[in-house]
Amino acid sequence: MDARFDAAVIGAGAAGMMAAAVAAQRGLRVVLVDHAQRLAEKIRISGGGRCNFTNLGTSPAQFLSRNPDFCRSALRAYGPADFLDLLRAHRVSWHEKHRGQLFCDDSSESVIEVLRRECAAGGVQWRMPCTVRGVGRETGGFRLDTEAGPIRAARLVLATGGMAIPQLGATDFSLRIARQFGLRIVEPRPALVPLTFDADHWKPYAALAGVSLEVRLTHEAAAPEGGGKRSRRPARAEFLEDLLFTHRGLSGPGILQISSHWRPGDPIRIDLAPGRDMAEALVAAKSGGRQTVAAALAQAWPRRLAEAWLAAAGPADGAARDEDLANLGGQRLADVADRRLRALGERIHRWTLWPTGTAGYKKAEVMSGGVDTGELDQRSLEARRCPGLHVIGEAVDVTGWLGGYNFQWAWSSGVACGRAL
Ligand code: FDA
Repeated sequence: MDARFDAAVIGAGAAGMMAAAVAAQRGLRVVLVDHAQRLAEKIRISGGGRCNFTNLGTSPAQFLSRNPDFCRSALRAYGPADFLDLLRAHRVSWHEKHRGQLFCDDSSESVIEVLRRECAAGGVQWRMPCTVRGVGRETGGFRLDTEAGPIRAARLVLATGGMAIPQLGATDFSLRIARQFGLRIVEPRPALVPLTFDADHWKPYAALAGVSLEVRLTHEAAAPEGGGKRSRRPARAEFLEDLLFTHRGLSGPGILQISSHWRPGDPIRIDLAPGRDMAEALVAAKSGGRQTVAAALAQAWPRRLAEAWLAAAGPADGAARDEDLANLGGQRLADVADRRLRALGERIHRWTLWPTGTAGYKKAEVMSGGVDTGELDQRSLEARRCPGLHVIGEAVDVTGWLGGYNFQWAWSSGVACGRAL
């Protein structure tokens, strides 16, 4: 026999559980369908197992979208303080780690448990694990063809998230169904992801894998995307964060941040000594005795980095090797002309690199792009051209910076939808 519901939510992750719980507590008959064996894997592994569940500084400025203002309404209606009230009600404690980022004191399991209890309080029905084979429109709503039998619902919520970490069961399901109902999609791509380089170019730096330091990263878009005013990338993005060398390229919070802005062919610029004037510091250090250039740099950087970076003198940056900077590492500062030290200082503050790719969805934290916000009402997340169909969470073209913003978008869009169902 067919099961009939007021609303079916596909995807029992952060946004889906929130939407289901809110709608069910308003008295709606809600079913939550998910194909995974284990509940909310991405919440579980997030924040190193402690879930960076929001950021106190959340505002539309930390989100990338073709319409950067789209998230405003949902964030205002349900912001970080509202989620903290929910955690308080469930006696979950947290702490601030870095720049407004809030983490659980214990484990991310406690956030999953809060959502599970909220769903139970509304009497949400579960179909999990359960594969959805297809979705169709019919009089009075939608019909889901699932391996547990057909499900009929007046409203359908697509909440299957993005394609990051396919090994955890991530799929493009929401995008496929949205397309089936005629909704436009902003091209999805891996975001918050390490950047990679051509193996030959990266060879001089591969031995630095594991070295990390604070840098200032800058990205300037080579060309506006999508043309004109509706470009989804700001022309310039800058982050002061840690950078991590890897065997294949660069990672760490700063690179993850800049990766959401980067497109193939774009350079990134790295200031390897932010807040200092390395040109003047190197010239001034000449009077300090017999130390080599590498030794002088090792006072600001890890020694391994100073030696390898000077030996390479920037060949991986795609620019012609600067002979003026070649073989400087072993030379005594006192023997090097000021002009060359100033050129070195300049290079340290403006190391320009051309990544050749990203580490892909396997290593990405999120997918950017998704269902075009122009297709959705920003208060209800309902599709304008398909009444009764809602899309929430990461499946929407709203991508937060690193630091708890993506979960906040999941909670906010989930609540907005749950209240509107
Ligand atoms: P989410 O991915 O949570 O849920 C989607 C659900 O849909 C899953 O349960 C999945 O099984 C299900 N599903 C998928 N395809 C399906 C199909 N075909 N049929 C049925 N069900 C299907 N963000 C943040 O703010 N702070 C953080 O600390 C982190 N940390 C972090 C670490 C790592 C390693 C990753 C990969 C990601 C993060 N994130 C994060 C990002 C955050 O996890 C992500 O943005 C949210 O979980 C998105 O919430 P959604 O509900 O949209 O999707």
